[in-house]
Amino acid sequence: MTIEHVKTASANQTYRRLFNYTKPYWSAFAISIIAIVIFSATEISLAAIMEPLVDGSFVERDPDTIRLIPLAFIGIFIIRGIANFVTSYGLGWIARNVIKTLREEMFARLISLPASFYDQSTPGQLMSKLLYDVEQVANAVTDAIIVVIRDSITIVGLLAWMIYLNGTLALIILLTVPIIALLIYKISGRFRRISKMIQASMGDVSHVSSEIIEGHREVKTFGAQQYEIKRFDKINQHNRRQRMKMLATDAISQPIIQFITVLGLSLVIYLATVPEMLEQITPGSFISFVTAMFMILTPIKRLTKINGKLQQGIAAAQSIFSLLDEPSEPDTGTKTIDRAQGDIQYKNVNFSYNSTNGKVLEDISFHIKPGQTIAFVGQSGSGKTTLVSLLTRFYTLNSGEILLDGININDLNLTNLRQQISLVNQQIVLFNDTVANNITYGHTQHISNEKIIAAAKAAHAWDFIERLPDGLATQVGQNGVLLSGGQRQRLAIARAILRNAPILILDEATASLDTKAERHIQAALETLMEHRTTLVIAHRLSTIENADQIVVMHDGNIIEAGTHSELLAKGQHYAQLHSLQFQDKSVETTK
Ligand SMILES: Nc1ncnc2c1ncn2[C@@H]1O[C@H](COP(=O)(O)OP(=O)(O)O)[C@@H](O)[C@H]1O
Ligand SMILES: [Mg+2]
Repeated sequence: MTIEHVKTASANQTYRRLFNYTKPYWSAFAISIIAIVIFSATEISLAAIMEPLVDGSFVERDPDTIRLIPLAFIGIFIIRGIANFVTSYGLGWIARNVIKTLREEMFARLISLPASFYDQSTPGQLMSKLLYDVEQVANAVTDAIIVVIRDSITIVGLLAWMIYLNGTLALIILLTVPIIALLIYKISGRFRRISKMIQASMGDVSHVSSEIIEGHREVKTFGAQQYEIKRFDKINQHNRRQRMKMLATDAISQPIIQFITVLGLSLVIYLATVPEMLEQITPGSFISFVTAMFMILTPIKRLTKINGKLQQGIAAAQSIFSLLDEPSEPDTGTKTIDRAQGDIQYKNVNFSYNSTNGKVLEDISFHIKPGQTIAFVGQSGSGKTTLVSLLTRFYTLNSGEILLDGININDLNLTNLRQQISLVNQQIVLFNDTVANNITYGHTQHISNEKIIAAAKAAHAWDFIERLPDGLATQVGQNGVLLSGGQRQRLAIARAILRNAPILILDEATASLDTKAERHIQAALETLMEHRTTLVIAHRLSTIENADQIVVMHDGNIIEAGTHSELLAKGQHYAQLHSLQFQDKSVETTK
């Protein structure tokens, strides 16, 4: 999808923007350019030296020239070698710095992007930008700078030398150059189009493979190996086709360009040998002219070749810039609260994820006082998760407002708002780090072990942490795979306890656990809920009977609200849900 979303900047704008990244290194850039120019000069002097070599050494047998020419060769190659080193090193240094800056910016941008952006992109596509596209840009631009500058100077220099030697013959060469230039222009457009498709298809390759890596258990249990292999095959095949198109364009363009050049060359040789011309030309200048003609072929060839690479680089840069241009989470709020009381009010909140899908929440209003617990129940898909995630401003309301301690949350500084809230949900995210660092995640200052242990104890996590091979220093593995579901949950609770935010959101925090593990966690959650305003979404109604308010949701609407006993007495929706669960339980026990 990313590709369609790219507001394609013109190649020119992209060059300029990319060039801006090299500005801090302008001195290194200047030195490299000088080195490139010097290198090109040695190239031209190699053609030029042919004239005195042939006329002076062989025809006239001038002793000075005979002695000087070998020395001149050595000198030219020493200068050439040094210039070559300075160029490669200097431009390489700039490129690596630019890559580092681009990665830094992309990373910072990714961290600041709103939830809605992540809903629409896949990790694979984003990773491919960060890893593959950035390298593409660097390779392309470095090579392109070297080749474009060096070879255009060389071409112009050699042409000038040929004109100086013989204007008539040079004219023929001059006529073939525009034809070649036109060809390059035509080919470059095609290169860029294919490059974009290759990038998108690299994103797909990494997307599908990262899905089977992350979901390897599901793939195995559902026996979906063949399906995944087929799916990957298709993408892989598409990638190969695009690559082949690129390769074919590249392969056909080169012989055509060379053929045109050789036509010009043959014409020159033919014309140079007609009698009138032979009188004007010395053997030295003819050899020098033909040398220059042969030498001009290589830079022309390289120029046409580099073009493909440069186009790849531009396409990659456009993909990078499109990410950098994604708007960050809106944060215009300026007010801050030290520590919220925890008075939360939703007023006529309406919300939809996007304009095409219908409303997800309709006219939601409720009020919850500091320290109270409000519970949301209802079928899955009724909008409970959406409702609580609006409090953290993961998404923007369509209309209505949410007040925290009487302040519209949009007027609060985003970081400050989120500092007031701890979130524990069903999908616990742990980082591939130690138990201790997972518990203290997000704290910038050092937290003593005593504090961590106290939090772990309150979360009923300490007994299992103690038994881990390295205690608090144990590595939990990627997303905590080395721990059980209940253990992960308790780590998340310990994290929330240590965070000590005045507002707590529990979204099906115990849904995936068995009853035995749940008892521990229920106790841990109760500790956590003390003195906090809590919004809890619970699958098992038994866990929310003591809530100050229970809200029943259906299709994005509040259809009932009250305390447990009030709602039971009413005998409607909540009472129905309740008796359903009670039935399930009795069935379970009689089994
Ligand atoms: N990120 C999202 N983008 C688009 N639609 C979503 C997103 N998350 C949830 N929805 C839709 O919003 C509705 C409410 O979902 P959700 O709040 O998760 O319900 P619940 O938590 O009650 O199960 C569902 O129809 C769901 O498909
Ligand atoms: Mg949910």
